[in-house]
Amino acid sequence: MKKLTAIALSLLGWCTLSQALAADVSPEKMKAKYPNQYASWQATSTQAARSDMLASYPAAIILWAGSAYAKEYHSPRGHQFAVADVTHTLRTGVPPGEGKKGLSASCWTCKSPDVPRLIDELGVEGFSAKNFTDLGTEMNSVVYCSDCHEQGKAELSLPRPHARDAMAKVHLPFDKQDEAMQGAQVCGQCHVTYYFQPERSNKVNIPWIFGSSADLIEKYYDTRRFYEWIHPVSKTPILKARHPEFEHWSRSEHAKVGVTCVTCHMPAATDGEGKAYTNHQVGKALPNYDVVCQGCHENKQALMKQLNSAKSQIAEKARRVEQLLVKAHYEAGAAWDAGASWAIMNDAIMAIRHAQWRWDFAMSSHGSYAHNPQEANALLDTAILQAEHARRALSEILSMLSVTQVNYPDISTKEAAQQAVGIELDKLTEAKQAFIKQEVDKHWPAVSRTGY
Ligand code: HEC
Ligand code: HEC
Ligand code: HEC
Ligand code: HEC
Repeated sequence: MKKLTAIALSLLGWCTLSQALAADVSPEKMKAKYPNQYASWQATSTQAARSDMLASYPAAIILWAGSAYAKEYHSPRGHQFAVADVTHTLRTGVPPGEGKKGLSASCWTCKSPDVPRLIDELGVEGFSAKNFTDLGTEMNSVVYCSDCHEQGKAELSLPRPHARDAMAKVHLPFDKQDEAMQGAQVCGQCHVTYYFQPERSNKVNIPWIFGSSADLIEKYYDTRRFYEWIHPVSKTPILKARHPEFEHWSRSEHAKVGVTCVTCHMPAATDGEGKAYTNHQVGKALPNYDVVCQGCHENKQALMKQLNSAKSQIAEKARRVEQLLVKAHYEAGAAWDAGASWAIMNDAIMAIRHAQWRWDFAMSSHGSYAHNPQEANALLDTAILQAEHARRALSEILSMLSVTQVNYPDISTKEAAQQAVGIELDKLTEAKQAFIKQEVDKHWPAVSRTGY
């Protein structure tokens, strides 16, 4: 027996063996070793509420026409829902038809610790070249300990290659960061803007060659003549921002004094026996005001007033940009219909592209009114100027082409706006439900159904 073990050990080799041991990060093991962290991590399952953003802001459907964002878009909720929500949304659709390329597996990137595991097995591009629906059976866990920690330990770690690459670009690699920054960084591997790199099998890339501000990312995209899709009405090559919480925070007053995502969203706690731990129920910050903010902001009433006024100021400007851009897209459409050429349209189309990018960079960052109200306001101020510029240019073009009337879409409700851009929600939902029933419910792991 001893001999057998010895042979087995030498066959496996020490390296493989130590990895196999370190990799025991099963829920049972983690729960036994770190009960407080585990229980609070699990408690994000109570944050089930979410809202239909397209019903609240139907104008966004027009701005995102031609992309899956116009089909379904919800506000975020607890980490425990991450895998199920990306599975059920119409944005990720159904399996592609025979011989067609489906949506990239990259859409799994920020939902599960199974992604770094699969990237280790398949390589970065091997992973992203797979279809989204092909890897559903592999997604066993939601955002988990090993997404933020060394396997089974308290030390923080950064398992996603796109985040490590990005921090190398801005010369602040993970191992050179102080403790506070590392805390923000683990959130920033997912709560950060990205795009899929078409020439690299759709791998996730963070566009920070020039820097991480909206201006510098735009410069990168413009230089590369990159776009996510062509807007079906205005023919604008659209850019899409995605939850740049990390970017907004990194330029905030709070970042300067070392207040991070962890300070506000993972407050210090003590258990029944007086033992201190970090609350892993990542969720809204304001319900924990007394624990989190009070120490630095004594006057709660004054701060809430400041927050609420920043929130409504930003919302007001965002609605203004949306109204302007809806009009601009349709005015451009009318100009194309009347025979306009790229030579005369280019300036207006670029202004639409740039205005929509800034609006999106401000609005897809959840909580920008709290994270960095100055930046959100500045982005929207510029977006207003750019959208107005586009409309002035288009108005000249339209009068040159003798177009006297533009038919704007009805954006009074989600249904009306989706109808205007040809989205047949019932059909899409039916196909999705059939896929869920035949494939997901039968073959995918339990986390793909949390909350459904
Ligand atoms: C989204 C990222 C994230 C996830 C997921 C996560 N942690 Fe943490 N964890 C942190 C951060 C950030 C800290 C605080 C580090 C600091 O600032 O000291 C921390 C701290 C800890 C500590 C140190 C003691 C303490 O409470 O501060 C332990 C132990 C720990 N986590 C265990 C776990 C376990 C077990 C899981 C899975 C059930 C888990 N963590 C999931 C980010 C995460
Ligand atoms: C592996 C990727 C990943 C990491 C790491 C991660 N998040 Fe998230 N986070 C998500 C996803 C995905 C959602 C949306 C889940 C949904 O709506 O189904 C989310 C949702 C949230 C929400 C909304 C919760 C609610 O109840 O409304 C907050 C707040 C949040 N994350 C903060 C953080 C913070 C702070 C960190 C770092 C400590 C962090 N996240 C780390 C992926 C991640
Ligand atoms: C100064 C405290 C503070 C810091 C630092 C901070 N946040 Fe927030 N965050 C808030 C507040 C306040 C809100 C508004 C809603 C709430 O959480 O009460 C919010 C909202 C959010 C939301 C939207 C939650 C929802 O359900 O709509 C996400 C996601 C989020 N923050 C992630 C992050 C990430 C990631 C970081 C770090 C890169 C970060 N936050 C840094 C205080 C903070
Ligand atoms: C460690 C101290 C500290 C903590 C904790 C802290 N803040 Fe701050 N906060 C500051 C400092 C310093 C500033 C910058 C100076 C100022 O405006 O008071 C600031 C500024 C702000 C601002 C104005 C931001 C701007 O750019 O105009 C808001 C809003 C704010 N904090 C909200 C919060 C909320 C909400 C929390 C808790 C979720 C919180 N802060 C937690 C220290 C802190």
